[in-house]
Amino acid sequence: MFDFGLVGLGVMGRNFILNVASNGYSTIGLSSKDKAIELLKTEGKDYEVDGTKSDEEFIKKLKRPRKIMLLVPAGKPVDSMIQRFLPYLEDGDILIDGGNSHYDDTDRRYLYLKDKNINFIGAGVSGGSKGARFGPSIMPGGDKECYSNLKAIFEATSAKVDGDPCVTYLGNTSSGHYVKMIHNGIEYAIMQLISENYHILKYGLKKSNKEIHEVFERWNEGILESYLIEITRDIFKASDKESGNDLVDMILDKAKQKGTGKWTSQSAMDFGVSIPTIDSSVSMRIISSFKSLREKAESIYGNNKINDLNINTTDLEKSLIFSFIISFAQGLSQLKVASDEKSYNLNYEEICKIWRGGCIIRARLLENFMKAFKKNNDLSNLLFDEDISSIINDTVNAARKVSVYCINNQIPAYSLLASLSYFDAIKSSRLPMNLIQAQRDCFGEHTFERIDKPGTFHFGNWQG
Ligand code: 6PG
Repeated sequence: MFDFGLVGLGVMGRNFILNVASNGYSTIGLSSKDKAIELLKTEGKDYEVDGTKSDEEFIKKLKRPRKIMLLVPAGKPVDSMIQRFLPYLEDGDILIDGGNSHYDDTDRRYLYLKDKNINFIGAGVSGGSKGARFGPSIMPGGDKECYSNLKAIFEATSAKVDGDPCVTYLGNTSSGHYVKMIHNGIEYAIMQLISENYHILKYGLKKSNKEIHEVFERWNEGILESYLIEITRDIFKASDKESGNDLVDMILDKAKQKGTGKWTSQSAMDFGVSIPTIDSSVSMRIISSFKSLREKAESIYGNNKINDLNINTTDLEKSLIFSFIISFAQGLSQLKVASDEKSYNLNYEEICKIWRGGCIIRARLLENFMKAFKKNNDLSNLLFDEDISSIINDTVNAARKVSVYCINNQIPAYSLLASLSYFDAIKSSRLPMNLIQAQRDCFGEHTFERIDKPGTFHFGNWQG
């Protein structure tokens, strides 16, 4: 009998099952492909690992309560696995969805299975294929009592920072998948901001790939130290055997997406949260996909014209620190609103803690964010923390300087500009929205509030 079962033996699934097995748990994998099972058995030959193509055999061979993790593509495949397993599952068994599922789907599946006495845990897993094998960050949500059955396995398999596992019980129902979605929204924003800096370094400051590698190498030794800066540093060293060029120069500039960034923006709109840095990063992936349209527009309007060389890499570093913090501030503020709306009861210090290792957005700054939430879990925005605001005050002028540079030189820097506009807007006690209210009242009798007395008012004579 096996301790843990896993469905979906792609690279992620195979690596995670080997991770579980190498931590002393007996494991069994399910796949329709002989090759995947063979590969699992070969790579897992030193551990207690088995594989099968039969749903019934897979389920019957698991110790009760059964712990079955699905690492299959989000969407229909998850529902179809649930339907396939239902005839064999028994009261108290645990299904874990480790994919990037939409939180609404997780809520629906949780309730559907609860009705059948089956536990459902929605667990975000971050860290790519290497993370899956050697320690991802795991973001589980669902019933707390049920999580106690998984705690030991998840803690053993997750990444560790200073001995602390990068996993914790996050909250009820879909909280785990919601937190993972926000993780991905922040991931999109930071990737976009890094790319904007690459654009400036390459076309503005005319640096070679080797020099850009050195800039990122230096940045990774400072406050920006993070997984995404680290891999960016390394990307500028990779060469393409076929062409003899640097590989980064041979890659088509159209960014793909699977949808988690878009879901973050959609959910922010639904819950009434402003996350323009994340929104703009999703938009930039969309703009990038219209290559021929961009080529046509360039032939009409021209490309960037670099005539202003008045910035240096220290300005860029500071500006990136500023927008990096703004990205986290927006994502975490969205989590706060979602937690209230959906009664997740999230602990933000714990979330920052489990994001410090294993996941794609792991970064040195998470230590600062952890401290901020340790002082006050009710912090409505990271930017209100004293230590964070001193970093912001130290970097915002560089962000303004780099923004002006990009505007003057026609370098697109949508996410940097969005970060700065967000910052300027939330620190403006007076915004021009009194005018919007007047316009709404003028054309649609939508009424307005006054600054001098309570109530709602309509003015019937806006145009005389
Ligand atoms: C992770 C990643 C992972 C996946 C991204 C890619 O945390 O390990 O976020 O989940 O690589 O979702 O997303 P896009 O294809 O949308 O860029």
